[in-house]
Amino acid sequence: MGRKTWDSIPASKKPLKNRLNVVLTQDPEKLVEQMNEQMVDQETVSVFSDFKKALESLSSDEGVGEIFVIGGTSLFDMSYGKNAEFKNHCKLIMATRINKEFECDVFSRDLEKDNSDFPPIHVSQTYSQGDITFDYCLFGNAELLSARPELVPTRLIEKFPKHPELQYLEIIDDVIKTGKFKQDRTGTGIYTKFGA
Ligand SMILES: NC(=O)c1ccc[n+]([C@@H]2O[C@H](COP(=O)([O-])OP(=O)(O)OC[C@H]3O[C@@H](n4cnc5c(N)ncnc54)[C@H](OP(=O)(O)O)[C@@H]3O)[C@@H](O)[C@H]2O)c1
Repeated sequence: MGRKTWDSIPASKKPLKNRLNVVLTQDPEKLVEQMNEQMVDQETVSVFSDFKKALESLSSDEGVGEIFVIGGTSLFDMSYGKNAEFKNHCKLIMATRINKEFECDVFSRDLEKDNSDFPPIHVSQTYSQGDITFDYCLFGNAELLSARPELVPTRLIEKFPKHPELQYLEIIDDVIKTGKFKQDRTGTGIYTKFGA
């Protein structure tokens, strides 16, 4: 995460649990000083001043499993997008779509408008909390996942059932692709399965 994202986490929640917290800053000394002042437990915190070095260090550490980039914008911009330096390392984008407008002061790329290199591979059903509805979207690195289909996160996809409209569209797609063409009395013809 970037230093500003780290700053935005309440002191009582730092470091985030059950993971190594990797924070990027151009001034590591100052950040460590701040952590000391705030008495942050630094056993599970690593501070880097270079994204590439952070990735190299984490990738070569056998104790590290998956690497998640959790923001903010500059780190997202380096991880995905047409000119992103580390795009080839980024397998998936996991996004929560919240169906409500909030006033924001930091923005990242709109994946729904500009996703040719990271097309959507899964949209969950809609969930709700109070008056807010939301769903989970997965965008996959098209080039990487087509070359290495074993990287498609099937367990994650199964965990969040598909949006009903997507299920419907998949059935229609299947009927069009594998159904049997029959002529009908209107002359238009139909694709059919199940002999119906
Ligand atoms: N909704 C979400 O999913 C989400 C996710 C993450 C964050 N956020 C929000 O976004 C806001 C912060 O995002 P942001 O984009 O403004 O800031 P950010 O990316 O979190 O932090 C930017 C800072 O990170 C350091 N940094 C970034 N790239 C670096 C690099 N290549 N090498 C060395 N240091 C680097 C620099 O720190 P120094 O200035 O110390 O050098 C830079 O000023 C917060 O309000 C946070 O709550 C939202």
